[in-house]
Amino acid sequence: MKKASTAAVNASAGLTADKVSLAVDLAGLHLANPMMTASGTCGYADEYADFADLSKLGAFVTKSITLKPRKGNEAYRIVETRGGMLNAIGLANVGLDVFLADKLPVLARMKAAGPRIIVNVAGHSFDDYLQAASRISREAIVDAIELNVSCPNVSDGLTFGTNPDLLKQLVRRVRDALRPDCRLIVKLSPNVTDITQTAGAAVEGGANILSMVNTFTGMAVDIWKRKTRLANGTGGLSGPAIRPLAVAMVSKVYRAVAKPAGVPIIGMGGIQYWQDAVEFLLAGASGLAVGTALFVDPATPITILAGLRDYLATLGCRSLSEVVGSLSLPGDGPACDQ
Ligand SMILES: Cc1cc2nc3c(=O)[nH]c(=O)nc-3n(C[C@H](O)[C@H](O)[C@H](O)COP(=O)(O)O)c2cc1C
Repeated sequence: MKKASTAAVNASAGLTADKVSLAVDLAGLHLANPMMTASGTCGYADEYADFADLSKLGAFVTKSITLKPRKGNEAYRIVETRGGMLNAIGLANVGLDVFLADKLPVLARMKAAGPRIIVNVAGHSFDDYLQAASRISREAIVDAIELNVSCPNVSDGLTFGTNPDLLKQLVRRVRDALRPDCRLIVKLSPNVTDITQTAGAAVEGGANILSMVNTFTGMAVDIWKRKTRLANGTGGLSGPAIRPLAVAMVSKVYRAVAKPAGVPIIGMGGIQYWQDAVEFLLAGASGLAVGTALFVDPATPITILAGLRDYLATLGCRSLSEVVGSLSLPGDGPACDQ
């Protein structure tokens, strides 16, 4: 309760938003603020740079990169649903070689303006992941690798993400192959019975940071054609519809795995407004990523920053870390005084 009473003093002293620090330290990865892009929703930065001031982001997260280029699935591969969006892109990407030659220089220029660089890596085998992740981590501008072990849109994309033993082995081998100061983020799938099992396996394997959640497997139906609206049949559901599910999962993983192990969480799933971002912070996330909302307003992560500052100032908190995980759940005892 010490935090709450400090906050109360600051609040009554009229803490102003400009005195609030949004800086976060994710396992040694220092970000000017917690806001980042969610993988796959803004390419490799150049596609997105004309629409938002990327220098204001805490970090930029790339589309998933695989060892070889991938065309992805047939169209339609995105459909809108009420409160969300289903995608079955199928990991379409330029492949490792083109990424290193053409995309990395763009990311290096962006990094000079401020944001940290996180490269998302996907694969189909231990070897795929190891080769791509270790090669990318040799690039000094890459601050962290995010392992996508949770893509629901490729035939074997969930094998690692849903099997704790395999996941632990994969994380251990990739961690050993990375540049020592390159952070390893493991992105968890929500398509499991108990997400604390896979979170625990990732941490035991050596993950420095957990990110959660990827999309939920779903289906949309054209009732007149009596066919699925996505050519792939099923896809991954994202956007506001999944936020309560994602917040509950962050809260569960924070309490059962991440907090005891001292491993930070990057929370995502339907963040569109600053209030959504706060829900994830209170549930236990220290970093925040925005995906689907970028299709509505590419500046969403930047707009959210002002709301976060005002919220913290109103509570009397000088730094973001003061609220992380401060959610009180039924059975926890008295709530804080704000
Ligand atoms: C069109 C689209 C493409 C995506 N591609 C990837 C990807 O390549 N790799 C990955 O790890 N996640 C991918 N995701 C998942 C997002 O990074 C994020 O985990 C998910 O959409 C939940 O966040 P949101 O509700 O803010 O979109 C994709 C999501 C969308 C909507």
